[in-house]
Amino acid sequence: MTLILAIESSCDETAASVVDSSLRVRSSVVASQAALHAEYAGVVPEIASRAHVERLMPVLRAALNDAGVTLQDINAIAVANRPGLIGSLLVGVAAAKAFSFALDIPILSIDHIEAHLTAGLLDPDENAPPINTLYPALGLVVSGGHTAIYRMDEPLHRERLGSTIDDAIGEAFDKVATILGLTYPGGPEIDKLAKHGNDRAHDFPVSLLAPNSLDFSFSGLKTSVLYEVRGTPTVPEGGGKATFQRDSTDLTDQQRADIAASFQRAAVRAITRKLERALKETPSMRSLVVGGGVSANSRLRSELASFCDTSNLTLIQPEMRYCIDNAAMIGGHAHLRLKAGELDDRNTLTAAPTGAR
Ligand code: KG4
Ligand code: ZN
Repeated sequence: MTLILAIESSCDETAASVVDSSLRVRSSVVASQAALHAEYAGVVPEIASRAHVERLMPVLRAALNDAGVTLQDINAIAVANRPGLIGSLLVGVAAAKAFSFALDIPILSIDHIEAHLTAGLLDPDENAPPINTLYPALGLVVSGGHTAIYRMDEPLHRERLGSTIDDAIGEAFDKVATILGLTYPGGPEIDKLAKHGNDRAHDFPVSLLAPNSLDFSFSGLKTSVLYEVRGTPTVPEGGGKATFQRDSTDLTDQQRADIAASFQRAAVRAITRKLERALKETPSMRSLVVGGGVSANSRLRSELASFCDTSNLTLIQPEMRYCIDNAAMIGGHAHLRLKAGELDDRNTLTAAPTGAR
């Protein structure tokens, strides 16, 4: 059985994992930096890279220990090398190159977004159908940095059909959470709060763009929530900073929950409407493959399940622990590339802030 040691350091999670060639996750360790960035309500790149440097070795050691293996048992090393914060990516890439060199084992560079689309294939149960029977599939990435729909003819091939023209959906969840006075990262907080709210209390806009567009836009939705919470802004004559009438501290708990639930309904609706359109354009799909932090959202999960039911698609979505950034999905995707003979040259391998496609 081939074992891959995988590293993920593209944003604010330092993660390492050991995954075997049947895509079983032998260990998955994630050190979140959320507390370090909370006071800034967003990731501070310099703080993130420094924290990766401090945490990577202990996290790697824990991943090997949890899997009950040593470095000598590892057959290949995988690292997320794009897209992400360049300073953060470089920490993982430098470590992976060092291990590959010292142990004289192959190295695989992994696109973080492609890995999100492999997370749902991890830890297959005994009755799981062979991977190739799940494709062609629609791919949906919903994360803090990306929102996109893909056509996937097989797990290593994706063609983008549409993506966000402004905020990513996770970014919209985080910004709305900040507007509501919730802690960062706000996606999970909105999910929790929305359970106590009336999702019909507000009719927030679902932006669908042009009639055939498969792109997304979340900035109008975010601004509608902002105006609902703070009132219409007054801009001083001759320009300057807008001032608002009120803020989230003027809301009751119920009002806050109603706004969270109504926002979540609109954000999820934008996704399902675009999937309906995408399926009309590509009718022969067998599955919907989902990944990214927002795929942990309870409302999105249940609406995607109904969408797949009515559309006769198999839903491949990650277990909760593989939704947000983790290294197991990097290791899983690396196994698919290794089986396809797609190795990298450690002398030329480098990190890049943007995705390949
Ligand atoms: O995939 P991810 O861990 O990082 C990126 O690659 O961007 O996604 C992080 C995003 C954050 O915006 C976070 O608020 C959101 O996923 N998120 C959620 C939930 N859990 C995480 N959004 C909505 N509901 C959730 N339950
Ligand atoms: Zn991610």
